[in-house]
Amino acid sequence: MSRIACFVEKYNFSDPREEAALQNFKQTAEKSGSQFSFLFRENIEDIPNYDAVFIRATTDPLFTSYIVSKTAWELGKKVIDDPESIKICANKIHQYALFEKHGVPRIPTVFLSKDDLHHKKITEIFSTLGKPVVIKAPYTSFSRYVEKAACETSFREVAKRFFKKSDVLAIQKFTPTAFDWRVGVLGNDILYVCKYMIPKGKWKHGAKLRGKPTVIWGRTVSIQKKDMPPRLREVALKACGVIGKGLYGVDIKEVYGEYVVVEVNDNPSIYAGYEDSMDQDIYQRIINYLSA
Ligand SMILES: Nc1ncnc2c1ncn2[C@@H]1O[C@H](COP(=O)(O)OP(=O)(O)O)[C@@H](O)[C@H]1O
Ligand SMILES: [Mg+2]
Repeated sequence: MSRIACFVEKYNFSDPREEAALQNFKQTAEKSGSQFSFLFRENIEDIPNYDAVFIRATTDPLFTSYIVSKTAWELGKKVIDDPESIKICANKIHQYALFEKHGVPRIPTVFLSKDDLHHKKITEIFSTLGKPVVIKAPYTSFSRYVEKAACETSFREVAKRFFKKSDVLAIQKFTPTAFDWRVGVLGNDILYVCKYMIPKGKWKHGAKLRGKPTVIWGRTVSIQKKDMPPRLREVALKACGVIGKGLYGVDIKEVYGEYVVVEVNDNPSIYAGYEDSMDQDIYQRIINYLSA
């Protein structure tokens, strides 16, 4: 019998759809003969008493969730998300460099360092990538440091602000689409497939801080994984494969029949009635992975 700790923070229970998903994990584990306990930050010294740790709180190398991951990993426990995946997924520059190295299809990207912020370089970037471009600081999530710039003035304004966060920025070709494919991957296999629709008049799927209900999100349309386009499957598995063997949600844009990776996320959201609505075995498969 496997003892699984699910590391959560209070905000994981603030959205009823996320809470329902967490209860689904618990019930699925218990039906399979495992123990499943929610572990809060007050009790992380209990990690040695478990066989596996499943992190549902937001991950970041600077958050408690990373300490939990690293501790579990060092004790030889099964852990989702593992510390290496957390680190790679937290840093877009590192991640894009891995995609480049392994030939993962991705949005055309150039890296910009502080010394490069001058007229000649900016002109060169606009002529390579077109206008507007998307500027990203590497340590971002929830779309907080992802902005468009259509002229040199706004490019400089955004870049200067983002350089306070990081020495290197990623500049990308602006690639608007009606939706982002979101493919859930576990242990090098497809777990679920969704379309995260982009809200009308916007270009990002959303900017949600868990526990803060202010931001508008696009709809989630789920499709059966057996019906996914074969090339989407290939690109999704390749992108996640260069990060690791854990649980990921990869965002992919479909542009003129080609599939290009936006980013791989560790700790992908799982909300009851959303990611699970076509392939309902996702709970069982994650529990099996943790208790194997
Ligand atoms: N180059 C791009 N062109 C158009 N849309 C983009 C581009 N890069 C990202 N987006 C959109 O912006 C959102 C956030 O970008 P992403 O790189 O995933 O940052 P974050 O880590 O903040 O989620 C996504 O919904 C994605 O569709
Ligand atoms: Mg994203």
